[in-house]
Amino acid sequence: MFFTSCFAKAIVLTVLSIGSVSALPQASNENSLMVRAPCQPGYYLKNNVCTICPPGSTCDGTGAAQCDMGHAQPRNGTSGVCPQCPVGTFQPNRGATSCILCPKGQYASNNASSFCDNAPSGWFQSQPGKNFICGTCCGWEAMENGNINAKNCTGGKPNAWPNSGSGCIPSPANCVHAQSCSQDPITGACPPGSVTKASR
Ligand SMILES: *[C@@H]1O[C@H](CO)[C@@H](O)[C@H](O)[C@H]1NC(C)=O
Ligand SMILES: *[C@@H]1O[C@H](CO)[C@@H](O)[C@H](O)[C@H]1NC(C)=O
Ligand SMILES: *[C@@H]1O[C@H](CO)[C@@H](O)[C@H](O)[C@H]1NC(C)=O
Repeated sequence: MFFTSCFAKAIVLTVLSIGSVSALPQASNENSLMVRAPCQPGYYLKNNVCTICPPGSTCDGTGAAQCDMGHAQPRNGTSGVCPQCPVGTFQPNRGATSCILCPKGQYASNNASSFCDNAPSGWFQSQPGKNFICGTCCGWEAMENGNINAKNCTGGKPNAWPNSGSGCIPSPANCVHAQSCSQDPITGACPPGSVTKASR
């Protein structure tokens, strides 16, 4: 830093000695002597014209960078880092302008997800756009069709224990059969007697 600083002052002094005061940088610090981007942040140079940054990208005043996977930028004229896709959503592509809700039977418990996780055997999610899944209630099994719901163990089959997997298996003695195992239609809350899982 010592040498750089001295070098910077030397340049300022040289310019002063030439006498072109109006050509001096506004601030006589080192930054003023660095090369600046040709355009403002939020713009990029296109065919030598400063152009507003398109949605799906961010611009530092020189180039335009596409948003990474797991991110999306709906607005034009932005700089910095594209916003992360929130939990319950994902984006598998670069340059995206919006995030996608996880479908039923899947979930995304992390921000900036490029994919959603499948509800594994014994777990279900009946709503899109969620960051958690529910373990099946006692007496119910997760439906095989993408684990989007739970179904009753009926017809003389043994009960399933919570989170036991698909298929009804013999249950422990203290398994109390729940009357239903459907999620809250508004909040998606896991039903009584089930287990909530929200981490990968
Ligand atoms: C950028 O977005 C603003 C706000 O949505 C809009 O008014 C403007 O026309 C857009 N500019 C360009 C160049 O697309
Ligand atoms: C996701 O991002 C939000 C907003 O920044 C933050 O409040 C939340 O804690 C994050 N969640 C996780 C799981 O990292
Ligand atoms: C589920 O099965 C149990 C035991 O056979 C039964 O008592 C209950 O009524 C059933 N519930 C539903 C919603 O079908």
